[in-house]
Amino acid sequence: MAAKDTVALVLAAGKGTRLKSDMAKVLHRAGGRSLVEHVVRACQPLKPAEILVIVGHQAEQVAAAVEPLGAKAVVQNPQRGTGHAVLVARKAIRRSAKYLLVVPGDAPLLRASTLAALVETHRRENAAATLLTANLADPTGYGRVIRKEGDGSVAAVVEDSALAPEQRAINEINSSIYCFTLDKLWPCLAALRPNNVHRELYLTDAIALLNARQERVIAMTTPDSDEILGCNTRAHLADADRVFRQRKAAELMDAGVTIYLPETVVIDADVDVGRDTIIEPGVELLGATRVAERCVIRTGSVLTNCRVDEGALIEPHCVAIDSRIGKNSRLGPFARLRPGADMREGSHVGNFVELKKTVLGEFAKANHLAYLGDATIGSGSNIGAGTITCNYDGVHKFPTKIGKRVFIGSDTALVAPVRVGDGAYVAAGSVITENVPADALAIARGRQANKAGWAKVRRAELAREAKSKKKTKRRR
Ligand code: UD1
Ligand code: MG
Repeated sequence: MAAKDTVALVLAAGKGTRLKSDMAKVLHRAGGRSLVEHVVRACQPLKPAEILVIVGHQAEQVAAAVEPLGAKAVVQNPQRGTGHAVLVARKAIRRSAKYLLVVPGDAPLLRASTLAALVETHRRENAAATLLTANLADPTGYGRVIRKEGDGSVAAVVEDSALAPEQRAINEINSSIYCFTLDKLWPCLAALRPNNVHRELYLTDAIALLNARQERVIAMTTPDSDEILGCNTRAHLADADRVFRQRKAAELMDAGVTIYLPETVVIDADVDVGRDTIIEPGVELLGATRVAERCVIRTGSVLTNCRVDEGALIEPHCVAIDSRIGKNSRLGPFARLRPGADMREGSHVGNFVELKKTVLGEFAKANHLAYLGDATIGSGSNIGAGTITCNYDGVHKFPTKIGKRVFIGSDTALVAPVRVGDGAYVAAGSVITENVPADALAIARGRQANKAGWAKVRRAELAREAKSKKKTKRRR
């Protein structure tokens, strides 16, 4: 599908006033990617000679979003409309290019196959311009397509704000996705005038100008009007996001993943999930998360950039980021993995346990109420309830190293830097400030003293005190 004679131009300089946002419209996200990234990715399979992106508002950030995808940013400053944007791109468009594919940066649901069909139709029909259009039940806000009687070619596009009363009923809309033959387009762009409420140069006006020059403008109508949804408002953004989530869930289910209440899960575009994995309602799988086969991810868990190896069980309401959840391991419920948590095969992390930059060795367990940070824990070790690695002195972070088959008693504080050797025991309630040799028992707490009969004597004292108080009250 290489189109070496075609340049793709993504219009992404606008502010997006209707979003009422401090962030440029095309940087808003749907389906886990910025809008402009979706659009550039839809252009890529066509293999155009080049993908140019017109940037203006927050130009640097928009350029940074598209350049890693191999697109080239062209600055439009100030932004004087969609027609002006194409004029600004002119100097960057190579002379050898014959066709220009124009795509707005705010149409994230667009499919590559639709763009390919548009370019193909344009070539086959030898038109000067080919518009992608759609019939919408509610066309409000969009430019409307005025067809010619007779051959059904396109006479003009009229913006919503400029519609005559009888044109309001037209529900065929301009998607802002076009293929132009460049040598026909340039003279018309030079003739654009800002005759509209916004004092802008509208690319849509080029359609009437082409007609005035007896050039043929045609339209290709997409049956899937979802695809051309422009995200002008927060409501549009939410609609686009919903469509992405539905598409992604459907794709995973087709590949053998069980998803219960798929309309409630949020799975980003780049996430991979292996077959026979079960995803329960309300789960979010974000960023570059990879889940292997036969895992269970229970309700309410949110995983960002995580690797989950086969057979892992994630109980409800876990939050994990930049972490690994190893083969056949168990996490949660209510557990938190911060960046660099690395649960090895068969390990367990239970409720109210937090791991940060910590390796939990094979078959090791930390089942209740613990903070383990900057730690390495050897295989088969057991970390008791309430264990805390004191890794921070207010300025520096220090490591804790726990060997294999170690038993850390409940409510232990390990004051880092500190090491506990293989096979050692640490008694419950200890504050460990010195290294513990292998196979030793460390006890670091006040010694217990039992005072025989003390409580009985105390109770009798208290009872006497209470009695004498009552008496004094009565006398008064
Ligand atoms: C545009 C079309 C309208 C169509 C609709 C489809 C025009 C005049 N109107 O309207 O017919 O129905 O898209 O969604 O073209 N942009 C620039 N530079 C500018 C102005 C805009 O790069 O100077 C970019 C924007 O960032 C955006 C795209 O062009 O990604 C479209 O602009 P937008 O303001 O969304 O146009 P609409 O009013 O939606
Ligand atoms: Mg728009």
